[in-house]
Amino acid sequence: MYSDSKDINRTTNIEIDLILEGIFNKYGYDFRNYSKAHVKRRLLNRLTTSKLNSISELQHKVLHEPGFFEIILRDLSINVTEMFRDPSFYLALRNEVIPILKTYPFFKVWHAGCSTGEEVYSFAVVLKEEGIYDRAQIYATDFNHDVLDIAKKGIFPIDRIKEYTYNYQASGGKQSFSDYYMANYDSVIYDQSLKKNLVFAEHNLVTDSVFAEVNLIICRNVLIYFNKDLQNRVIDLFHDSLINGGFLGLGSKETLQFTTKANSFEIINNEEKVYKKKIIKK
Ligand SMILES: C[S@@+](CC[C@H](N)C(=O)[O-])C[C@H]1O[C@@H](n2cnc3c(N)ncnc32)[C@H](O)[C@@H]1O
Repeated sequence: MYSDSKDINRTTNIEIDLILEGIFNKYGYDFRNYSKAHVKRRLLNRLTTSKLNSISELQHKVLHEPGFFEIILRDLSINVTEMFRDPSFYLALRNEVIPILKTYPFFKVWHAGCSTGEEVYSFAVVLKEEGIYDRAQIYATDFNHDVLDIAKKGIFPIDRIKEYTYNYQASGGKQSFSDYYMANYDSVIYDQSLKKNLVFAEHNLVTDSVFAEVNLIICRNVLIYFNKDLQNRVIDLFHDSLINGGFLGLGSKETLQFTTKANSFEIINNEEKVYKKKIIKK
């Protein structure tokens, strides 16, 4: 049969739709509205490392071979993160959001797509330094239970400490970063006091509903993997989860612009994409 590269590409796209449908039906994880380019790149990469010839062969493995789905889940959920990642984001929170949180006797924070927890522990440090950690209830969620297990332990490799110390200082850190951890052989254990008000839980932004009513949501480097429809769904979910006047921090790589809720938020910091939910008058 005649087939050129365009035809092969089309067939691959059909196979990708089928494997995503199969994963959803069998495992309940819905990647059908993730960015096509991202999913394709990750699956083709897995095809090569598994020495398979087609996505259909991959589909057979994922549906029939115990444990293989977990590998695909890891492939599709990029878990890269770091302490005080993009330090200027934390500086923006310190300057523009923390002063408002300080006026509340009690407030809730939701880190959505928290991966192995570095972002959560970083913000816990900020809250502590600003003297409001004890007033906070912090929820941190991800749909991947393996990364949550790591996050709960609060242990990180020691070889990243130099980079994290630099990030901490650039983020407006007021003390010495070493005040917040204890080195133990080749790893670092975060101070127990940072964990006190943290709750790590499984939550899928695609299939689960409102998580809690919160004052601040931080969700960075997650929406980039979603298509427009899914981005709209998740922003709607965030809008419903925020109190009136609550804050949403997306970080410099994502934006509310072009989403259906763009007019329901005011911009607090345009560089770091920090927004405030407009007060809805009843
Ligand atoms: C690149 S990490 C970002 C971690 C952290 N927010 C940061 O910026 O450093 C993306 C995280 O989003 C999570 N994720 C992807 N899809 C998700 C979904 N549908 N629901 C919840 N978490 C999801 C992944 O498991 C991964 O841990």
